[in-house]
Amino acid sequence: MSKKSPVSRSGRFAGGPAADVAQFTESISFDWRLWRHDILGSLAHAEMLHKIGVLTRRELHAIVRGLDTIGKEINAGQFTWQAALEDVHMNLEAELTKRVPAGAKLHTARSRNDQVALDVRLWLRDEITALLGEIADLQRALVALGEKNAEVIIPGYTHLQRAQPVYLAHHLLAYVEMLERDCERLWDCYSRVNVCPLGSGAIAGSTLPLDRRLVAKLLGFVNARGEAQLTQNSMDGVSDRDFLIEFCAAAALLAVHFSRLAEDLILWASTEFNFLHLADAYTTGSSLMPQKKNPDIAELARGKTGRVVGNLMALLTLLKGLPMTYNRDLQEDKERLFDTADTVRATTRLLAAMLRHQDTRFNRPVCAAAASDAMLLATDLADYLVRKGMPFRPAHHVVGAVVALAEKTGKPLNQLTLAELQAIDQTFGRDALGVFNLKTAMAKRNITGAPGTKAVAKQLARWREQLS
Ligand code: ARG
Repeated sequence: MSKKSPVSRSGRFAGGPAADVAQFTESISFDWRLWRHDILGSLAHAEMLHKIGVLTRRELHAIVRGLDTIGKEINAGQFTWQAALEDVHMNLEAELTKRVPAGAKLHTARSRNDQVALDVRLWLRDEITALLGEIADLQRALVALGEKNAEVIIPGYTHLQRAQPVYLAHHLLAYVEMLERDCERLWDCYSRVNVCPLGSGAIAGSTLPLDRRLVAKLLGFVNARGEAQLTQNSMDGVSDRDFLIEFCAAAALLAVHFSRLAEDLILWASTEFNFLHLADAYTTGSSLMPQKKNPDIAELARGKTGRVVGNLMALLTLLKGLPMTYNRDLQEDKERLFDTADTVRATTRLLAAMLRHQDTRFNRPVCAAAASDAMLLATDLADYLVRKGMPFRPAHHVVGAVVALAEKTGKPLNQLTLAELQAIDQTFGRDALGVFNLKTAMAKRNITGAPGTKAVAKQLARWREQLS
């Protein structure tokens, strides 16, 4: 680190050593990640400066070549970042100017305030695009697992108590639906990320006749009709961080969905449920107990939700009460944003890989035994009475009495005799016990959204098609 700190300090503050201050204020240790996007922004800005006559053609070419070389060096790990130069913007500009005298003109009508807003938007656009692709991949893994186990029926739970039978695929497709809404939210957020703030300057734009539209188009800040998307208020342009908070909010909900999926997998993999065998590669052993096989990957997918939710809270709190416009507080946005993006992307990939692994298998006999619990069809028995003309409330009451009798006699619900049923209510006919045929019961649930045989097959086909 060079001795000369760029942080201005008057005599009044002579106390603290400059190194401490530099260490406290630097952001290069994390914002170096924006280098690619910072260079892209500078290239577009330089081109525009040439168009409006600030840079000659020679100067533009020198700047383009200089930035290109620096980019290659960074990529090859040959670039030394300097904390004394605070951030990625100053590191790149200082290095360029050292090599290319015209580099000193690059910052014309530009401030780090609109520059950082630009870089983060460019970076986030790429992150959202990549994340959307990874979520689609996880959705495909869920659909494939459903298809592989198309015949498997499990109990569906409410209050973690057995409720009604569902196809396993139906359960898995519920997550595909959640993830689809996550994708919609991320896309919606993208449209507000995809607005170019460059030209806002430090706070009040510029007296120079910048061509903001050209910069926006060069950087792909356009809508579906190809029209340039520009921030319309310079003060908002430099201080708006809504777009990244929106991303972190959408990501937090995504992470919450991951944690629910992870929890289902953890429960299913427990000895008590024993529905699911997780591939060894996605579990760990215990350092003490030799028999243990722990679902750590799923647990971390659940646990990491905490930091993603925390990042959202940190960002909301960061913005709360900030006076207009740019304040250095805003530098604190990046680590939270990076952490959220890194965490949800890694979790998406790991969950997809775990579900797709050939050794991630459902224990079919155990699932079948659980799904054969006749109690799961108590509601079907009430529906039977409804079909015979009984209003639902009394039908519910009658079946309640049937359940009580089964419990009292220690018989499964479907082992009661017709005489026992009729002793409770005369409406029961010979066909009453037919209700307990699981196959027919599943065939009957065919309205939109239901876990019936045909309905689920249709949903699996729809998702396969939609995700291909
Ligand atoms: N590193 C700063 C940030 O991330 C860049 C902008 C600094 N602007 C300033 N006026 N100090 O926010």
